[in-house]
Amino acid sequence: MSTRTLFLLPGDGIGPEAMAEVVKIIDHMNTDAGAGFVTDTGLVGGSAYDAHGAAISDADMAKAMAADAVLFGAVGGPKWDDVPYEARPEAGLLRLRKDMQLFANLRPAICYPALSAASSLKPELVEGLDILIVRELTGGVYFGEPKEIIDLGNGQKRGIDTQVYDTYEIERIAGVAFELARTRSNRVCSMEKRNVMKSGVLWNQVVTASHKEKYSDVQLDHMLADAGGMQLVRQPKQFDVIVTDNLFGDMLSDVASMLTGSLGMLPSASLGAPDETTGKRKAMYEPVHGSAPDIAGRGIANPIAMIASFAMCLRYSFNMIAEADRLEKAIANVLDQGIRTGDIMAPGARQVGTNEMGDAILAEFKALSA
Ligand code: NAD
Ligand code: IPM
Ligand code: MN
Repeated sequence: MSTRTLFLLPGDGIGPEAMAEVVKIIDHMNTDAGAGFVTDTGLVGGSAYDAHGAAISDADMAKAMAADAVLFGAVGGPKWDDVPYEARPEAGLLRLRKDMQLFANLRPAICYPALSAASSLKPELVEGLDILIVRELTGGVYFGEPKEIIDLGNGQKRGIDTQVYDTYEIERIAGVAFELARTRSNRVCSMEKRNVMKSGVLWNQVVTASHKEKYSDVQLDHMLADAGGMQLVRQPKQFDVIVTDNLFGDMLSDVASMLTGSLGMLPSASLGAPDETTGKRKAMYEPVHGSAPDIAGRGIANPIAMIASFAMCLRYSFNMIAEADRLEKAIANVLDQGIRTGDIMAPGARQVGTNEMGDAILAEFKALSA
């Protein structure tokens, strides 16, 4: 039996609560289906800071690098508001993305049929919605230098962040978006702000050139990112794949989450480039939501984003397509049965906590596997 190594980083707040529901699914797959997952668990975010003064230790970083895949919960919270900037919980997540070179972040926004009324938009605007935001994850203003606050000496300070993109970074993320579009509805919309940003001008040029050279069979449109945000809430079904930079992708994916009913629904996969000899790619799977300090510790968080992130892990890291489909179907069935956490609650539905939602999805997953 082959082994599959998974490194779990539950993190802070609702991260560990959601991760516990995925662990139940992993245990079941090992016991009943001989899946051969070997798991190890580490610390990230505030919990890592409390333990050893850094948002992730070098030892856990090495384990993340060596694993077949990393499952990440969430980091952050008011408890760590005053820790040094370099050690803040979010720094652990950014280090994982940067050191593992996870440049491609896939954020699917799918409106499950049972949830079209849970969206803040009219049901007919989101019914059947299936879009994929491809967010560049290791460049742009998140990592550009200089990044600092300088004292101007006249009672004023200056905060500086730098947006930087090189041709190769744009080319490789555009390639991911075009390739994925070919497996879907074959349309890509690239979003930047070339009207005010030099990096936006280059982004537009490189995506256009790459399309012309290698992907002219795919329909390509360009949109200014602000207008893109507006179009996402005006007529979201016009989109298939959206490709955009690190910061715009962060904001647009939170916007897109509400089309699906809740931020608690959106999974993501953060992928590196395939290794030239083995073809394997480093990968981390992380819900789009954060540690939700306002509801943490109460057992009411929606674990679906985390569970659906594990489904993406099965699909992208282990090529376990049937199992991934089954897990996603289990989520859909449970929602069809009217079982809901508070964030997606609807009149007439049965409200459950994190545990019960995880158990219901596991029971359905088992039934579908039988
Ligand atoms: P958040 O995503 O934690 O929460 C935003 C809102 O959505 C809250 O009202 C929360 O209760 C709700 N929500 C989020 N996930 C939910 C779920 N699974 N079920 C039910 N409701 C859910 O964003 P925030 O409040 O802006 O940030 C809180 C902390 O999380 C900050 O420290 C931030 O930096 C961090 N953060 C971390 C990640 C990550 O670890 N990947 C992502 C985003 C934010
Ligand atoms: C996300 C989060 C992170 C980001 C933070 C926590 C660093 O908001 O994954 O969407 O901005 O990328
Ligand atoms: Mn975000």
